Amino acid sequence: MYVCLCKGVSDHRIRQAVEEGARSWRDVQRETGCGTQCGKCACMGKTITREAVVGE
Ligand code: FES
Repeated sequence: MYVCLCKGVSDHRIRQAVEEGARSWRDVQRETGCGTQCGKCACMGKTITREAVVGE
């Protein structure tokens, strides 16, 4: 499922960024570009990031 339409970032891509070492929403933004344009996806992006980090 796409989380970020502006940058074409999926939930899978966010989890992958966490697997590769991202530890915060800011890291995920830097790695994927998610949330760096219109910002509408930030809430969901943060939630998925948090879940992925906790689940590691
Ligand atoms: Fe993610 Fe616009 S949908 S920045």
